[in-house]
Amino acid sequence: MPAYELYGQEEIDAVVDVLQRKIVHRYSSHEARGGIYRAKEFEDVVARAVGAKYCQAVSSGSAALYVALKALGVGPGDEVITSAFTFIASIEAILECGAVPVLADIDESLNLDPESAEDAISEKTKVIMPVHMYGAAADMERFRELCDLYGLYLLEDACQALGATYKGKGCGTLGDCGTYSLDPNKVISVGEGGLIVTDDEELYRRMEYYHDHGHIHDESIDRGAEGKACLGFNFRISEIQGALGLAQIKKLPRAIESLRSNKKRILEAVGDLDLVTLRDLPDRDGEIATQLVLLLPDEGSARAFQKASKEAGAGCSVLADNTWHYAKHWKTLREGTTYSRLRCPFDCVYAEDLPSYRPIEWVQTDDILSRAVMYGLNIVMGDEDVERMAKAIKAGLKVAY
Ligand SMILES: Cc1ncc(COP(=O)(O)O)c(C=O)c1O
Repeated sequence: MPAYELYGQEEIDAVVDVLQRKIVHRYSSHEARGGIYRAKEFEDVVARAVGAKYCQAVSSGSAALYVALKALGVGPGDEVITSAFTFIASIEAILECGAVPVLADIDESLNLDPESAEDAISEKTKVIMPVHMYGAAADMERFRELCDLYGLYLLEDACQALGATYKGKGCGTLGDCGTYSLDPNKVISVGEGGLIVTDDEELYRRMEYYHDHGHIHDESIDRGAEGKACLGFNFRISEIQGALGLAQIKKLPRAIESLRSNKKRILEAVGDLDLVTLRDLPDRDGEIATQLVLLLPDEGSARAFQKASKEAGAGCSVLADNTWHYAKHWKTLREGTTYSRLRCPFDCVYAEDLPSYRPIEWVQTDDILSRAVMYGLNIVMGDEDVERMAKAIKAGLKVAY
């Protein structure tokens, strides 16, 4: 599903225009730029597209999570509950705040299991962070209920789910705030970049300040004369990313339509799945269909399926092997590998009972991922690609029991 599949003249023109005007910084040269603010325009278009009041662009999806957590006030002594099946950035963002990531199980949606998340709540929990994995919404009604019941913030890691919806509302807009990634493997990309959306003006202001050294942005004065609201850091995007984003966001509906149609065509060509099931999603129609996952009855079936599928011409992965997304494989997390001698939360008076992050903690997750096979889908798939994948799935289904 990489966004570059749809890169074209529009993206080239957008970037060239910024370079020709020679104004690359998003917050400077107010007089010279003639009212053109591409990064700001991009943020406004994204906010409208997903249905949020405010959007802050930052330098990556990882930065988006980090800035959001900082703005929510997460720090040493706090715990954040998220999923054992995600990209490690979700966990690193929490660690960078000095807080403790508590990794709960997934359910058959492959997203955070609300029951497991509830079991993980302690008096230190500050945030629940469901991850909308592979472009499909987690059970947001349940998470909203839990957060209201226990007085917690709800932060959506929608880094893989820009454009996905849950019961008609944009993923990322259902919590207190939500994040998207614009890295090269997402449905739209600006090279590297991220976005945070929220309806809460105070939270938005904090994120705006924090992501740019605390600056109180003011177009009517010189950047050097701006005041500062807090300490922060630099997670800015440039006008180049803003312009590229504007060209890309116009293609988002087309990319999603194409992905959904590809998935549908493949499943129709396969026909009856028999004992095999799709992910148990709370809103199947809202997913952006970047992946096709099949849940088999057991691991033996999944391994046999994988072999037959490869032999028939299309490789798939068994998700338990996924070193990128399954916490079981993260030795650096288990061992707390960092370069400083002392560091919160690993050596921290506020975090005495750090979880061990061993796979034994995720029995349910391990069971599900060891019988889940996954195919990545492209935006552009011709009839031949669809037929090849359908043929491989059928070959897998034949040997799966
Ligand atoms: C679930 C999830 N969270 C966070 C990120 C981090 O995004 P980025 O690569 O833009 O830093 C990713 C990226 O793949 C992701 O998949």
